[in-house]
Amino acid sequence: MKKKWLALTLSLAMTLSLAACGSTGGTSTSGSGSGSGSGSGSGSDGDVITVGFAQVGHESDWRTASTESAKKVFSPENGYELLFSDADNDSAVQLEAIRGFIQQGVDYIIVDPIVSTGWDSILTECEDAGIPVIVIDRTIDDSDKYVSWVGSDFKTEGLACGEWLKAYAAAKGITEINALVIEGSTGASATIGRTEGFKEVADREGWTILDSQNGDFTEAGGQEVMESYCQSYAGQFNVVICQNDNEAYGAMTAMDAAGVSYGVDGDVIIVSFDSNEPAVEHVLNGNMNATFECNPMAAPTVDEVIKQLEAGETPEKEIYMEESWFAAEDLVTEITVNGETMPITQVTQEVLDARPY
Ligand code: AHR
Repeated sequence: MKKKWLALTLSLAMTLSLAACGSTGGTSTSGSGSGSGSGSGSGSDGDVITVGFAQVGHESDWRTASTESAKKVFSPENGYELLFSDADNDSAVQLEAIRGFIQQGVDYIIVDPIVSTGWDSILTECEDAGIPVIVIDRTIDDSDKYVSWVGSDFKTEGLACGEWLKAYAAAKGITEINALVIEGSTGASATIGRTEGFKEVADREGWTILDSQNGDFTEAGGQEVMESYCQSYAGQFNVVICQNDNEAYGAMTAMDAAGVSYGVDGDVIIVSFDSNEPAVEHVLNGNMNATFECNPMAAPTVDEVIKQLEAGETPEKEIYMEESWFAAEDLVTEITVNGETMPITQVTQEVLDARPY
């Protein structure tokens, strides 16, 4: 293990100095530095493996699930010391956190990139320091100086949403689509991919996208955008695409206040991405029509990547998470995306009970 004592000393100093800054936008350590050495993450020499995780923030339920999963996997019991940074959706903070991890001499850096560009310089610094970087969830478009990426195909998620809507509208006899999109954070690959995928189907089918604005992947953002949509496009829209679950919760609050009915028995079709348990429950109850999964449980796969690296093996460069699509009704049972036929799962109580997050 590299610079272990330096890492532990600086880690402690950084944790103490940031403790006064509150629980967000800071760095914390979840490892004691004295792990048993017999856990799954122990290095080949039996030492604790230090991992710095530069997380996006805490904007959504999805993000909370991702953080909790990482803290569970990269735990002292599993032979890890985790240095965790919550950048609160601020790219400058995220880059500084990574620089801090380099100074601390961690063994590995995990980063979930807030935005998809501006990475080559910091990844070169990691490379020069000999620290392997593993990217999770969102993608990096302007550098390949990382070992592996573990995440979702966001464009496929957007295409799946579009293909489901096309089939659902046909089954319901809806001939005109006037959609409002509530986007995620600007510059995030999750936003870019979902926007592109849905727009590709919309353009092909001749649908109207009345507006597409940034809701920042938050419930408050979704509510704010939907409140303004309800005023600007009153009576003109029949579909709302929310690029995550939390935005959908906010959008439903705004539509309730504006007297707009939505969901299975409503005037407006509403869908989301992520498929956290509360969203799947909304689909079960018919409040939402469909939700398209984005799987936040990358950490166990990252653990496997680290084990491969520790064993001197070369992990795969791109590893895709498994994802499912969920709908309230059984009108559409499958869709074809990128030439692949994919099932649409009708949500039942059993399906909801089986949700892992
Ligand atoms: O990058 C993944 C996206 O970020 C999730 O869809 C969203 O909930 C999160 O904030």
